[in-house]
Amino acid sequence: MTDPARRVTVLDLAAAKRDRRPCTMVTAYDWPTGQLADAAGVDCVLVGDSVAMVVAGRSSTIPATLDQMIYHGEIVSRAVSRAMVVVDLPFPLQHLGVRTAVESCGRILKETGCQAVKLEGTAGQADVIAGIAAAGIPVMGHVGLRPQAVHQLGGYRMQRDIDRLTADAEAAAHAGACAVILECVPQEVAATITRSLTVPTIGIGAGPHCDGQVLVMHDLIGLSTGRVPRFVRAYADVKTSIGDALARWRQDVEHYRFPGPGETLG
Ligand code: KIV
Repeated sequence: MTDPARRVTVLDLAAAKRDRRPCTMVTAYDWPTGQLADAAGVDCVLVGDSVAMVVAGRSSTIPATLDQMIYHGEIVSRAVSRAMVVVDLPFPLQHLGVRTAVESCGRILKETGCQAVKLEGTAGQADVIAGIAAAGIPVMGHVGLRPQAVHQLGGYRMQRDIDRLTADAEAAAHAGACAVILECVPQEVAATITRSLTVPTIGIGAGPHCDGQVLVMHDLIGLSTGRVPRFVRAYADVKTSIGDALARWRQDVEHYRFPGPGETLG
């Protein structure tokens, strides 16, 4: 964790790697989760396109739109004062050329107030990362399991092509990415990539040897309603707490126990 009084920057992420200090990133999509993540002292808050699945109940991240990412990114950016806020570039904007990608990331930066963007891609998107970085926009790469390519990859599965993974991660870093997310990559491969890159790797389902870790908040706090990946550790059971609270309130209303005297105005 860096100085709690000032904003985490790309320089802090680079210093964390140099000092071998693990960095933390968690998703948030709204005001309360943004505030909670920031208060917990995480380094980065990711407004992921996972919002489409976690919040909107879609079966993949593909339906997330630029306007939706900007809507959620703006709310989270106002809620977070210390962590670096990173907003995902939604599909397929990184595949439509450098100009479209820079225009879209420019909108994200201007309209949300975030500090960085993230995009999924292979070595084929290196020119796009370079263009965004050249525009002065901090950009994170995302390689391995790329959920936006779920149909091409044949499902949400471990990615094992070592040469491909290494080439994709190195291409992102060489193009100017300030960090590279490694998703569902064997831990030995993640360790090798982490050693070879000068920028931090942030892993999800990639084992303990990355420079940092990222999780989807709703998985971490036990609020996800869909399938939770095996690599997740749930630190709370918020779904049960909310369900219990709602059921108790309903029973109290039905048995005239709510509202009580102290809960009645006038
Ligand atoms: O959209 C997202 O939440 C992500 C994380 C899984 C890294 O990209």
